[in-house]
Amino acid sequence: MQVNNQHYQTIWPDASNRFVHIIDQTRLPFAFETVRIENLVQMVTAIKTMQVRGAPLIGVAAAYGFALAIQEMALKKDLSHGRNPEKMATEKDLSLFAQQLLMSRPTAVNLAWAVNRMQAHLKNYPLESWVTAAWQEATKIAEEDVTQNKAIGAHGLALIKRAMAKPRKQNVFNILTHCNAGWLATVDVGTALAPIYAAFDAGLSVHVWVDETRPRNQGASLTAWELGAHGVPHTVITDNAGGHLMQQGLVDMVIVGADRVTANGDVCNKIGTYLKGLAAFDNQIPFYAAVPSPTIDWTIQNGLLEIEIEQRDCDEVANIQGLAQDGSIQILRVMPLDSSAANPAFDVTPARLVTGIITEQGIYTPNQLMQLKTEITE
Ligand code: MRU
Repeated sequence: MQVNNQHYQTIWPDASNRFVHIIDQTRLPFAFETVRIENLVQMVTAIKTMQVRGAPLIGVAAAYGFALAIQEMALKKDLSHGRNPEKMATEKDLSLFAQQLLMSRPTAVNLAWAVNRMQAHLKNYPLESWVTAAWQEATKIAEEDVTQNKAIGAHGLALIKRAMAKPRKQNVFNILTHCNAGWLATVDVGTALAPIYAAFDAGLSVHVWVDETRPRNQGASLTAWELGAHGVPHTVITDNAGGHLMQQGLVDMVIVGADRVTANGDVCNKIGTYLKGLAAFDNQIPFYAAVPSPTIDWTIQNGLLEIEIEQRDCDEVANIQGLAQDGSIQILRVMPLDSSAANPAFDVTPARLVTGIITEQGIYTPNQLMQLKTEITE
Protein backbone atom coordinates (compact mmCIF):
# COMPACT_ATOMS: atom_id res chain seq x y z
CA MET A 1 0.00 0.00 0.00
CA GLN A 2 1.05 3.63 -0.47
CA VAL A 3 2.41 5.65 2.44
CA ASN A 4 3.65 9.15 1.64
CA ASN A 5 3.63 8.24 -2.08
CA GLN A 6 5.87 5.25 -1.50
CA HIS A 7 4.86 1.59 -1.72
CA TYR A 8 5.23 -0.28 1.55
CA GLN A 9 4.56 -3.76 2.78
CA THR A 10 4.40 -4.35 6.52
CA ILE A 11 7.50 -6.55 6.59
CA TRP A 12 10.41 -7.05 4.21
CA PRO A 13 13.93 -8.47 4.26
CA ASP A 14 16.81 -6.21 3.27
CA ALA A 15 18.44 -6.79 -0.10
CA SER A 16 21.15 -9.06 1.30
CA ASN A 17 18.71 -11.24 3.32
CA ARG A 18 20.50 -10.30 6.51
CA PHE A 19 17.86 -8.33 8.43
CA VAL A 20 14.11 -7.83 8.37
CA HIS A 21 12.32 -4.49 8.45
CA ILE A 22 8.89 -3.89 9.96
CA ILE A 23 6.53 -0.97 10.36
CA ASP A 24 6.28 -0.24 14.09
CA GLN A 25 2.49 -0.41 14.52
CA THR A 26 2.61 0.77 18.13
CA ARG A 27 3.52 4.24 16.82
CA LEU A 28 0.60 4.57 14.38
CA PRO A 29 -1.43 6.63 13.61
CA PHE A 30 0.70 9.46 14.98
CA ALA A 31 4.11 8.42 13.68
CA PHE A 32 5.17 6.21 10.76
CA GLU A 33 8.39 4.50 11.75
CA THR A 34 10.17 1.39 10.57
CA VAL A 35 12.38 -0.84 12.72
CA ARG A 36 15.22 -3.19 11.74
CA ILE A 37 14.93 -6.66 13.29
CA GLU A 38 18.29 -8.41 13.55
CA ASN A 39 17.65 -11.67 15.38
CA LEU A 40 15.09 -14.11 16.72
CA VAL A 41 14.84 -12.46 20.15
CA GLN A 42 14.02 -9.11 18.58
CA MET A 43 11.37 -10.70 16.37
CA VAL A 44 9.76 -12.47 19.34
CA THR A 45 9.69 -9.14 21.19
CA ALA A 46 8.17 -7.36 18.18
CA ILE A 47 5.38 -9.95 18.08
CA LYS A 48 4.75 -9.87 21.85
CA THR A 49 4.67 -6.08 22.05
CA MET A 50 2.50 -5.87 18.94
CA GLN A 51 4.91 -3.83 16.83
CA VAL A 52 3.72 -6.43 14.35
CA ARG A 53 0.26 -7.87 14.87
CA GLY A 54 -2.67 -9.33 12.97
CA ALA A 55 -2.86 -13.07 12.33
CA PRO A 56 -1.35 -13.29 8.81
CA LEU A 57 1.42 -10.82 9.62
CA ILE A 58 2.28 -12.66 12.84
CA GLY A 59 2.68 -15.81 10.74
CA VAL A 60 5.01 -14.12 8.26
CA ALA A 61 6.95 -12.43 11.08
CA ALA A 62 7.43 -15.85 12.69
CA ALA A 63 8.71 -17.27 9.39
CA TYR A 64 11.26 -14.46 9.07
CA GLY A 65 12.09 -14.86 12.77
CA PHE A 66 12.88 -18.47 11.99
CA ALA A 67 15.14 -17.45 9.11
CA LEU A 68 16.96 -15.00 11.39
CA ALA A 69 17.42 -17.78 13.96
CA ILE A 70 18.89 -20.16 11.36
CA GLN A 71 21.21 -17.41 10.21
CA GLU A 72 22.42 -16.73 13.77
CA MET A 73 22.97 -20.44 14.26
CA ALA A 74 24.91 -20.68 11.00
CA LEU A 75 27.25 -17.92 12.11
CA LYS A 76 27.91 -19.72 15.40
CA LYS A 77 28.13 -23.27 14.11
CA ASP A 78 29.63 -22.88 10.65
CA LEU A 79 27.07 -24.79 8.62
CA SER A 80 28.77 -23.74 5.41
CA HIS A 81 30.48 -27.03 4.56
CA GLY A 82 28.27 -29.47 6.41
CA ARG A 83 31.40 -30.67 8.30
CA ASN A 84 32.14 -30.98 11.96
CA PRO A 85 29.27 -33.21 13.08
CA GLU A 86 29.50 -32.37 16.79
CA LYS A 87 28.83 -28.72 15.99
CA MET A 88 26.11 -29.44 13.50
CA ALA A 89 22.70 -27.97 13.98
CA THR A 90 20.16 -30.58 14.87
CA GLU A 91 16.42 -30.80 14.67
CA LYS A 92 16.52 -29.97 18.39
CA ASP A 93 17.72 -26.46 17.51
CA LEU A 94 14.75 -26.08 15.18
CA SER A 95 12.39 -27.09 18.00
CA LEU A 96 13.93 -24.53 20.33
CA PHE A 97 13.48 -21.74 17.80
CA ALA A 98 9.93 -22.91 17.19
CA GLN A 99 9.11 -22.91 20.91
CA GLN A 100 10.31 -19.33 21.39
CA LEU A 101 8.12 -18.16 18.54
CA LEU A 102 5.12 -20.25 19.56
CA MET A 103 5.19 -18.77 23.06
CA SER A 104 5.04 -15.19 21.77
CA ARG A 105 1.27 -15.11 21.11
CA PRO A 106 -1.08 -18.09 21.39
CA THR A 107 -4.34 -17.36 19.55
CA ALA A 108 -3.58 -16.69 15.88
CA VAL A 109 -3.04 -20.08 14.28
CA ASN A 110 -1.01 -18.54 11.44
CA LEU A 111 1.98 -18.37 13.76
CA ALA A 112 2.04 -22.11 14.46
CA TRP A 113 1.23 -22.82 10.82
CA ALA A 114 4.22 -20.79 9.61
CA VAL A 115 6.59 -22.21 12.23
CA ASN A 116 5.59 -25.79 11.36
CA ARG A 117 6.00 -25.07 7.66
CA MET A 118 9.48 -23.62 8.17
CA GLN A 119 10.56 -26.61 10.26
CA ALA A 120 9.19 -29.14 7.80
CA HIS A 121 10.75 -27.29 4.86
CA LEU A 122 14.25 -27.19 6.31
CA LYS A 123 14.26 -30.90 7.03
CA ASN A 124 14.27 -31.45 3.24
CA TYR A 125 17.63 -29.69 2.86
CA PRO A 126 21.22 -30.45 3.82
CA LEU A 127 22.54 -28.24 6.61
CA GLU A 128 24.71 -26.15 4.34
CA SER A 129 21.58 -24.96 2.46
CA TRP A 130 19.52 -24.10 5.52
CA VAL A 131 20.16 -20.36 5.56
CA THR A 132 19.19 -19.91 1.91
CA ALA A 133 16.27 -22.31 2.19
CA ALA A 134 14.92 -20.51 5.30
CA TRP A 135 15.02 -17.06 3.70
CA GLN A 136 13.46 -18.39 0.50
CA GLU A 137 10.62 -20.13 2.34
CA ALA A 138 9.87 -17.11 4.55
CA THR A 139 9.72 -14.91 1.46
CA LYS A 140 7.46 -17.44 -0.26
CA ILE A 141 5.07 -17.39 2.72
CA ALA A 142 5.03 -13.58 2.56
CA GLU A 143 4.33 -13.59 -1.19
CA GLU A 144 1.56 -16.17 -0.83
CA ASP A 145 -0.11 -13.95 1.77
CA VAL A 146 -0.34 -11.09 -0.73
CA THR A 147 -1.69 -13.37 -3.47
CA GLN A 148 -4.28 -14.86 -1.13
CA ASN A 149 -5.45 -11.46 0.08
CA LYS A 150 -5.87 -10.19 -3.48
CA ALA A 151 -8.06 -13.23 -4.22
CA ILE A 152 -10.09 -12.57 -1.03
CA GLY A 153 -10.58 -9.02 -2.32
CA ALA A 154 -11.88 -10.27 -5.68
CA HIS A 155 -14.35 -12.74 -4.12
CA GLY A 156 -15.45 -10.12 -1.60
CA LEU A 157 -15.98 -7.55 -4.34
CA ALA A 158 -18.35 -9.91 -6.16
CA LEU A 159 -20.21 -10.43 -2.87
CA ILE A 160 -20.56 -6.69 -2.27
CA LYS A 161 -21.75 -6.13 -5.85
CA ARG A 162 -24.46 -8.78 -5.39
CA ALA A 163 -25.52 -7.25 -2.07
CA MET A 164 -25.60 -3.75 -3.58
CA ALA A 165 -27.97 -4.93 -6.29
CA LYS A 166 -30.64 -5.60 -3.62
CA PRO A 167 -32.96 -2.81 -2.38
CA ARG A 168 -31.36 -0.84 0.48
CA LYS A 169 -32.21 2.08 2.71
CA GLN A 170 -29.30 4.20 1.51
CA ASN A 171 -27.35 4.62 -1.72
CA VAL A 172 -24.04 4.15 -0.01
CA PHE A 173 -23.16 0.60 1.05
CA ASN A 174 -22.25 0.55 4.75
CA ILE A 175 -19.83 -2.08 6.00
CA LEU A 176 -18.95 -2.47 9.65
CA THR A 177 -15.59 -3.90 10.65
CA HIS A 178 -13.94 -4.65 13.98
CA CYS A 179 -10.28 -4.40 14.95
CA ASN A 180 -7.79 -4.12 12.09
CA ALA A 181 -7.81 -6.67 9.31
CA GLY A 182 -6.37 -4.39 6.68
CA TRP A 183 -2.97 -4.38 5.02
CA LEU A 184 -1.31 -3.60 8.35
CA ALA A 185 -2.51 -6.96 9.70
CA THR A 186 -1.08 -8.82 6.71
CA VAL A 187 1.90 -8.36 4.40
CA ASP A 188 -0.22 -6.24 2.09
CA VAL A 189 -3.84 -5.71 0.89
CA GLY A 190 -5.52 -7.08 4.06
CA THR A 191 -8.26 -9.63 4.61
CA ALA A 192 -11.50 -7.97 5.81
CA LEU A 193 -10.48 -4.71 4.16
CA ALA A 194 -9.44 -6.37 0.88
CA PRO A 195 -13.04 -6.51 -0.46
CA ILE A 196 -13.55 -2.92 0.71
CA TYR A 197 -10.45 -1.66 -1.11
CA ALA A 198 -11.52 -3.62 -4.19
CA ALA A 199 -15.02 -2.13 -4.06
CA PHE A 200 -13.69 1.40 -3.55
CA ASP A 201 -11.17 0.99 -6.38
CA ALA A 202 -13.98 -0.28 -8.62
CA GLY A 203 -15.84 2.98 -8.03
CA LEU A 204 -18.56 1.57 -5.76
CA SER A 205 -20.01 3.86 -3.12
CA VAL A 206 -18.86 2.24 0.13
CA HIS A 207 -18.54 3.59 3.63
CA VAL A 208 -16.96 1.79 6.58
CA TRP A 209 -18.05 1.91 10.23
CA VAL A 210 -14.80 1.39 12.12
CA ASP A 211 -15.13 -0.02 15.66
CA GLU A 212 -12.51 1.69 17.82
CA THR A 213 -11.63 -1.75 19.32
CA ARG A 214 -10.59 -1.18 22.90
CA PRO A 215 -8.30 -1.82 24.60
CA ARG A 216 -5.57 -1.41 21.96
CA ASN A 217 -7.76 0.60 19.59
CA GLN A 218 -6.62 -1.14 16.43
CA GLY A 219 -9.77 0.16 14.71
CA ALA A 220 -9.37 3.82 15.66
CA SER A 221 -5.61 3.88 15.23
CA LEU A 222 -4.85 1.43 12.41
CA THR A 223 -8.00 0.73 10.36
CA ALA A 224 -8.98 4.41 10.28
CA TRP A 225 -5.41 5.38 9.37
CA GLU A 226 -5.09 2.99 6.47
CA LEU A 227 -8.62 3.58 5.11
CA GLY A 228 -7.90 7.31 5.24
CA ALA A 229 -4.60 6.89 3.43
CA HIS A 230 -6.45 5.06 0.63
CA GLY A 231 -9.27 7.63 0.55
CA VAL A 232 -12.01 5.22 1.64
CA PRO A 233 -14.90 7.02 3.41
CA HIS A 234 -15.11 5.81 7.00
CA THR A 235 -16.36 6.78 10.45
CA VAL A 236 -14.87 5.63 13.74
CA ILE A 237 -17.48 4.53 16.27
CA THR A 238 -17.32 3.35 19.86
CA ASP A 239 -17.33 -0.41 20.27
CA ASN A 240 -20.87 -0.24 21.65
CA ALA A 241 -22.42 1.70 18.76
CA GLY A 242 -22.63 -1.09 16.16
CA GLY A 243 -25.83 -2.72 17.45
CA HIS A 244 -27.66 0.60 17.44
CA LEU A 245 -26.51 1.39 13.89
CA MET A 246 -27.72 -2.02 12.75
CA GLN A 247 -31.16 -1.41 14.29
CA GLN A 248 -31.30 1.89 12.40
CA GLY A 249 -30.68 0.14 9.05
CA LEU A 250 -27.27 1.79 8.73
CA VAL A 251 -25.20 -1.38 8.36
CA ASP A 252 -25.50 -3.50 5.21
CA MET A 253 -22.79 -6.03 5.96
CA VAL A 254 -20.26 -6.91 8.64
CA ILE A 255 -16.82 -8.10 7.52
CA VAL A 256 -14.18 -9.01 10.08
CA GLY A 257 -10.86 -10.81 9.95
CA ALA A 258 -10.01 -13.75 12.18
CA ASP A 259 -7.14 -15.13 14.18
CA ARG A 260 -8.37 -18.67 13.91
CA VAL A 261 -11.38 -20.30 12.23
CA THR A 262 -12.29 -23.84 13.23
CA ALA A 263 -13.09 -26.59 10.74
CA ASN A 264 -16.81 -26.10 11.46
CA GLY A 265 -16.69 -22.32 10.97
CA ASP A 266 -16.40 -20.85 14.50
CA VAL A 267 -14.60 -17.52 14.16
CA CYS A 268 -12.09 -16.45 16.78
CA ASN A 269 -11.24 -12.78 16.41
CA LYS A 270 -10.53 -9.66 18.46
CA ILE A 271 -12.57 -9.31 21.65
CA GLY A 272 -15.97 -7.79 20.86
CA THR A 273 -16.44 -9.55 17.54
CA TYR A 274 -18.96 -11.97 19.09
CA LEU A 275 -21.23 -9.09 20.16
CA LYS A 276 -21.20 -7.84 16.56
CA GLY A 277 -22.11 -11.33 15.39
CA LEU A 278 -25.05 -11.45 17.79
CA ALA A 279 -26.30 -8.01 16.80
CA ALA A 280 -25.94 -8.78 13.09
CA PHE A 281 -27.86 -12.04 13.50
CA ASP A 282 -30.65 -10.26 15.40
CA ASN A 283 -30.94 -7.68 12.62
CA GLN A 284 -30.61 -10.14 9.68
CA ILE A 285 -27.40 -8.48 8.54
CA PRO A 286 -24.87 -10.74 6.78
CA PHE A 287 -21.78 -11.38 8.90
CA TYR A 288 -18.62 -12.51 7.07
CA ALA A 289 -15.13 -13.39 8.18
CA ALA A 290 -12.44 -12.87 5.54
CA VAL A 291 -9.50 -15.20 6.03
CA PRO A 292 -6.69 -16.78 4.04
CA SER A 293 -6.64 -20.58 4.39
CA PRO A 294 -3.65 -20.59 6.81
CA THR A 295 -6.01 -18.98 9.36
CA ILE A 296 -8.21 -22.10 9.35
CA ASP A 297 -7.31 -24.64 12.01
CA TRP A 298 -8.52 -27.91 10.51
CA THR A 299 -7.59 -29.81 13.68
CA ILE A 300 -10.34 -28.34 15.84
CA GLN A 301 -14.14 -28.28 15.71
CA ASN A 302 -15.15 -26.29 18.76
CA GLY A 303 -13.71 -22.81 19.01
CA LEU A 304 -15.08 -22.14 22.49
CA LEU A 305 -13.50 -25.22 24.00
CA GLU A 306 -10.37 -25.61 21.95
CA ILE A 307 -8.90 -22.17 21.20
CA GLU A 308 -6.54 -20.62 23.72
CA ILE A 309 -7.62 -17.02 24.29
CA GLU A 310 -4.68 -14.74 24.94
CA GLN A 311 -4.95 -12.87 28.26
CA ARG A 312 -3.02 -9.66 27.85
CA ASP A 313 -1.61 -7.19 30.36
CA CYS A 314 -4.35 -5.40 32.31
CA ASP A 315 -2.47 -2.12 31.83
CA GLU A 316 -3.90 -2.13 28.29
CA VAL A 317 -7.37 -1.74 29.86
CA ALA A 318 -6.31 0.64 32.63
CA ASN A 319 -4.53 3.02 30.27
CA ILE A 320 -5.09 4.60 26.91
CA GLN A 321 -2.51 5.97 24.48
CA GLY A 322 -3.18 9.11 22.48
CA LEU A 323 -1.93 12.39 21.11
CA ALA A 324 -1.72 15.20 23.66
CA GLN A 325 -2.43 18.80 22.72
CA ASP A 326 1.30 19.57 22.73
CA GLY A 327 1.80 16.93 20.01
CA SER A 328 3.42 14.31 22.25
CA ILE A 329 2.17 10.73 22.42
CA GLN A 330 1.02 10.11 25.99
CA ILE A 331 -0.40 7.29 28.03
CA LEU A 332 -3.27 8.19 30.37
CA ARG A 333 -5.00 6.12 33.03
CA VAL A 334 -8.78 5.82 32.56
CA MET A 335 -9.86 3.96 35.71
CA PRO A 336 -9.31 4.26 39.47
CA LEU A 337 -5.84 3.38 40.67
CA ASP A 338 -7.16 0.66 42.98
CA SER A 339 -9.60 -1.02 40.53
CA SER A 340 -8.56 -4.28 38.92
CA ALA A 341 -9.01 -5.07 35.23
CA ALA A 342 -9.26 -8.16 33.01
CA ASN A 343 -8.06 -8.31 29.43
CA PRO A 344 -9.13 -11.31 27.34
CA ALA A 345 -7.90 -10.34 23.87
CA PHE A 346 -10.10 -12.52 21.64
CA ASP A 347 -13.54 -14.13 21.58
CA VAL A 348 -15.29 -16.79 19.54
CA THR A 349 -18.27 -16.09 17.30
CA PRO A 350 -20.04 -19.44 16.90
CA ALA A 351 -20.57 -20.72 13.36
CA ARG A 352 -24.36 -20.37 13.71
CA LEU A 353 -23.91 -16.56 13.63
CA VAL A 354 -21.57 -16.59 10.63
CA THR A 355 -23.04 -16.10 7.14
CA GLY A 356 -19.87 -17.03 5.32
CA ILE A 357 -16.10 -17.25 5.26
CA ILE A 358 -14.45 -15.32 2.42
CA THR A 359 -11.25 -17.14 1.46
CA GLU A 360 -8.79 -17.01 -1.43
CA GLN A 361 -10.63 -19.97 -2.97
CA GLY A 362 -14.12 -18.48 -2.73
CA ILE A 363 -16.88 -17.95 -0.19
CA TYR A 364 -18.04 -20.83 2.00
CA THR A 365 -20.82 -21.17 4.54
CA PRO A 366 -19.55 -22.70 7.79
CA ASN A 367 -21.17 -26.00 6.72
CA GLN A 368 -19.27 -25.99 3.43
CA LEU A 369 -15.88 -25.18 4.91
CA MET A 370 -14.56 -28.75 4.82
CA GLN A 371 -14.90 -28.61 1.01
CA LEU A 372 -12.17 -25.97 1.05
CA LYS A 373 -9.86 -28.33 2.87
CA THR A 374 -10.37 -30.90 0.12
CA GLU A 375 -9.78 -28.25 -2.56
CA ILE A 376 -6.53 -26.97 -1.11
CA THR A 377 -5.07 -30.39 -0.38
CA GLU A 378 -5.92 -31.86 -3.82
O1 MRU B 1 -4.27 -8.43 18.73
P1 MRU B 1 -4.15 -8.22 17.25
O2 MRU B 1 -4.05 -6.78 16.86
O3 MRU B 1 -3.05 -9.06 16.65
O4 MRU B 1 -5.52 -8.78 16.72
C1 MRU B 1 -5.80 -8.69 15.36
C2 MRU B 1 -7.15 -9.15 15.01
O5 MRU B 1 -7.93 -9.59 15.81
C3 MRU B 1 -7.47 -9.13 13.57
O6 MRU B 1 -8.80 -8.79 13.35
C4 MRU B 1 -7.19 -10.52 13.04
O7 MRU B 1 -5.89 -10.89 13.34
C5 MRU B 1 -7.43 -10.60 11.62
S1 MRU B 1 -6.03 -10.10 10.76
C6 MRU B 1 -6.22 -10.00 9.12
